[in-house]
Order: sequence, then C-alpha cells, then structure tokens
Amino acid sequence: MSAHLESLISADLIAAKTDELGRRIRADYDDHQIILVGILKGSFIFLADLARAIGGDLEIDFAQTSSYSSGKSSSGVVQIRKDLDINIEGKHVLIVEDIVDTGATLTHLRELLSTRKPETLKVCTLLSKPAARKVKIPVEYVGFEIPNEFVVGYGLDHGERYRNLPYIAILREG
Ligand code: IMP
Ligand code: MG
Repeated sequence: MSAHLESLISADLIAAKTDELGRRIRADYDDHQIILVGILKGSFIFLADLARAIGGDLEIDFAQTSSYSSGKSSSGVVQIRKDLDINIEGKHVLIVEDIVDTGATLTHLRELLSTRKPETLKVCTLLSKPAARKVKIPVEYVGFEIPNEFVVGYGLDHGERYRNLPYIAILREG
C-alpha cells in the first residue's frame, strides 16, 4: 500500500502561530503559574515549542489516553493510560492537544481533571477539525482549523510514523 504526503501547514506558519498563541496565553494568565498538561504522544513537539513561547512560571506534566487504534478512525471510547504526576488542585491548568477531532478525548479529560478542583481549566490545541466534531466542547485556544482530512507531522502520527515531519501534511493513501 502506498501513501503520499500533501503539505498543508508549513513549519514557518506553525512557528509563527505558536509564538502568537504563547504571547496570548501569557498575557491572559498575567504572571500566574501555569500547569501545561500535554496529551501524549501527539502533543509533545507542539508542547515543547509552546512552553518556550509562553515563558514565565510554568510546570509541565503529561497524560496519555487511548481511543485510536493504529488506524484512522476513533472508537469513541477513551481510557487513561498515564495519569498526571502533579497535584493540580488550586492550579491554572492548560491542556495541550495536537488535534481536536470528534472531541471525545477532551470531553473525557476535562471531566476527569475538573474533579480535581483546579483554579482554572482551559484547552489549547494546535489543530481543530470542526467538521468532525461529535461532542460540543469548549476550546479556548486553537492554532488552525483544518478540513476533515487525516493529517500527520509535527507530532501527529499514523501508526507511529511521521511524527518527526517538521510540517503538517495530509496523508493520502492509494
Ligand atoms: P478525538 O478524541 O476524536 O477528538 O481525537 C483526538 C485524538 O485523535 C488526537 O489527540 C489524535 O491523537 C488523534 N487524531 C485525530 N485526528 C487525527 C489526524 O488527522 N491525524 C493524527 N491523529 C489524529
Ligand atoms: Mg493525541
């Protein structure tokens, strides 16, 4: 089976957007400490760049969920595979996602993390596919809205491949 990549968002555009998001986020939170919660594995590259763009007082933790198989469609069932190490009670928590697709992952995570009584709980995602949404979910910071296509690169994978692409590409098969 052959696959080819069609560039959708260049590395330069991603960098400019990440800087813009970082400045906006730091301005919105004043000098408060922010707990960035990266959702593994897809967010790791975005989180690394975003954390530096936000600057100031910040802690980083990770959670891992599983809902996708190695294929392209969501099962809709979300499980926690790795929980946070940090106690988030009374903290300003910002969930960092690579992409919001159906919204199932974020709905589940928001519910779970809000039971731990953070001071605030918001979401920042690099990409959003509005046409794929099955659950309405507030997303405070969105980098790019993209069409309902399967994308890879800059942390996003297909069967664990392509995460190291420096740009976002549509994966076309066949
Ligand atoms: P949701 O729960 O359907 O919103 O899916 C969120 C997760 O599915 C993301 O964190 C990604 O890991 C994965 N995902 C959704 N769409 C894509 C895509 O186009 N490429 C790669 N992974 C995706
Ligand atoms: Mg993910």
